[in-house]
Amino acid sequence: MAVFLSDSAEDTLQFGEEYAKTLKCGDVVVLNGEMGAGKTVFCKGVAKGLGIDDEVLSPTYAYMNDYGGKLYHFDCYRLRNGGQAEALGLTDYFYAGGVCLIEWAENISDVLPETYRTVEIIKTAQNTRKIIYE
Ligand SMILES: Nc1ncnc2c1ncn2[C@@H]1O[C@H](COP(=O)(O)OP(=O)(O)OP(=O)(O)O)[C@@H](O)[C@H]1O
Ligand SMILES: [Mg+2]
Repeated sequence: MAVFLSDSAEDTLQFGEEYAKTLKCGDVVVLNGEMGAGKTVFCKGVAKGLGIDDEVLSPTYAYMNDYGGKLYHFDCYRLRNGGQAEALGLTDYFYAGGVCLIEWAENISDVLPETYRTVEIIKTAQNTRKIIYE
């Protein structure tokens, strides 16, 4: 466990970029944190760090955005359970070889892979965040 203190969205983005260097193909990362914590900002940084040039947008309405098979960015906010994720074919991507970043993974906790890494973003003030990661 380690902690990074972010003073701005730009800091979180840069942290995501650095964190990307620690990722291996197929790694699954669960991103915890309240609405507006900065999970998607962190994902933008990871994408940049993985050399992905496409703009990373919140996949709220798509559940998952696929960045060339290299990165799969999930937003499970509107899923009620793991069964739904399975029925939509989303869980297959956990084993497809790309890095998986999952927002609101608690909604599908019953179908998460056996091993995953966790990043928790805690809002400490308007523009500051405590990021606990492994
Ligand atoms: N230090 C910071 N780190 C990250 N985001 C910050 C920070 N300070 C301010 N912000 C702002 O907080 C917001 C974070 O939004 P973001 O969409 O990343 O949250 P989220 O955790 O993905 O929320 P949701 O659960 O709704 O998807 C952005 O508007 C960003 O500019
Ligand atoms: Mg988000």
